[in-house]
Amino acid sequence: MHPLQCVLQAQRRGPWASVSWLLLRTCRAQSSVHGTTCPGPERQQENGVRKDFSSRLAAGPTFQHFLRSALDPQEKPDVEDPPPYLTVDELSGRQRKVYLETYGCQMNVNDTEIAWSVLQKSGYLRTRNLQEADVILLVTCSIREKAEQTIWNRLHQLKALKTKRLRSRVPLRIGILGCMAERLKEEILNREKMVDILAGPDAYRDLPRLLAVAESGQQAANVLLSLDETYADVMPVQTSPSATSAFVSIMRGCDNMCSYCIVPFTRGRERSRPVASILEEVRKLSEQVLQLIHERDNICKQIHLPAQSGSSRVLEAMRRGYSREAYVELVHHIRESIPGVSLSSDFIAGFCGETEEDHLQTVSLLREVQYNMGFLFAYSMRQKTRAYHRLKDDVPEEVKLRRLEELITVFREEATKANMASVGCTQLVLVEGHSKRSATDLCGRNDGNLKVIFPNVEVEDVSNSGVRVRAQPGDYVLVKITSTSSQTLKGHVLCRTTLKDSSAYC
Ligand code: 5AD
Repeated sequence: MHPLQCVLQAQRRGPWASVSWLLLRTCRAQSSVHGTTCPGPERQQENGVRKDFSSRLAAGPTFQHFLRSALDPQEKPDVEDPPPYLTVDELSGRQRKVYLETYGCQMNVNDTEIAWSVLQKSGYLRTRNLQEADVILLVTCSIREKAEQTIWNRLHQLKALKTKRLRSRVPLRIGILGCMAERLKEEILNREKMVDILAGPDAYRDLPRLLAVAESGQQAANVLLSLDETYADVMPVQTSPSATSAFVSIMRGCDNMCSYCIVPFTRGRERSRPVASILEEVRKLSEQVLQLIHERDNICKQIHLPAQSGSSRVLEAMRRGYSREAYVELVHHIRESIPGVSLSSDFIAGFCGETEEDHLQTVSLLREVQYNMGFLFAYSMRQKTRAYHRLKDDVPEEVKLRRLEELITVFREEATKANMASVGCTQLVLVEGHSKRSATDLCGRNDGNLKVIFPNVEVEDVSNSGVRVRAQPGDYVLVKITSTSSQTLKGHVLCRTTLKDSSAYC
């Protein structure tokens, strides 16, 4: 048999550490598979070193060890210490190029991102060109037989590439990752001798080590399933730059045991990612969205941030999950990230238990933020809601309406002030159609999603050598703003243009 690398590395983290450690010891004791770098207890016996039970216990992890792990289950080293048989240099990617290919479900897309994140940290580079790859990794699927057949076929194709490389000085390493690695284990290594590494869905942290071992010409595998691995600290790197959506994975594994399904056996027990790590990933994605809104001319600089109330007390009663202070901080952050951003919000006047003081807090939030658009409502109790069962709709109707009127007045004052800043500016407007109020006017939206009304007259088309045209829905026009209200801007149209031709206008 090929010398299979011993892969059963104690997983030092989390309350389940003891379980995986015991597994490690058991597997080592029973393993008939040796590796020169990882001598099992049999070798120790050969050396005549017989340790009794208590001395072996003393060499194992201490109670403190588990306590520390239990206290901070997320604490994981940035760079794993190299095992004794590898140097830091051998463990690192040394700029070798990895080609990743993903098969199957959305979870495999996420696994690819995790695997790449681990390898990137370890000094590997990514390539999208198969021919220049030093390492090819297939993230595989076992859900149906056909899915596995696809991988076997792909392996046969890759065999030719590998053989060609054998003649060159730079070897090509091939790895099977994910569900098929987990299901078939050594069978893949035996059947396809050109496969260098196997990593199951819970073994991606081990990829740098497996690849380092493969460098010495040995096959290496880690198909140990874990009870607590969620890759909570591994920030997935979005692998497709042209992707239009990003997924945040919140759990791994499955306990359902549907009678037809292999997943519980390939992905292991169901476990949820810690909430803090999910939030952190979502925060990073939100940051990227803000950055994109700032950078791209084809994305409106407008964000709807429904506050509902300016009083932390009412926000708590509403179970909104943020305080006034946190909300205001977010507003500042957004305004710093996207200068000139237009903000809109929803507010409810007269929620259960709202006092005059709470109401004034909402008034002050409207003044503080100075929204460009607002949607304001008087509270109406809805059946089945938590408020219906637990709270009292105790603000009299006339008080609700009076507060609503006050909010609308303040919102309008502030929005008018904010919109006044646009007077005299030339703005890029996306034409939507005729104005509802006047047949001779057109209506469109500026970059802040505010309505802009302007006369429907013939204008010069700047991208068509000055031909005179009438703007159509979907066209971009430049409009010089001459007046504003709280809801709309008015102006006169200067020309038809394109996103590309129109650079920054105020
Ligand atoms: N009463 C009044 N306004 C409500 N909204 C939602 N539920 C109610 C209610 N029971 C408002 C909120 C929400 C918007 C869509 O409608 O402001 O953001």
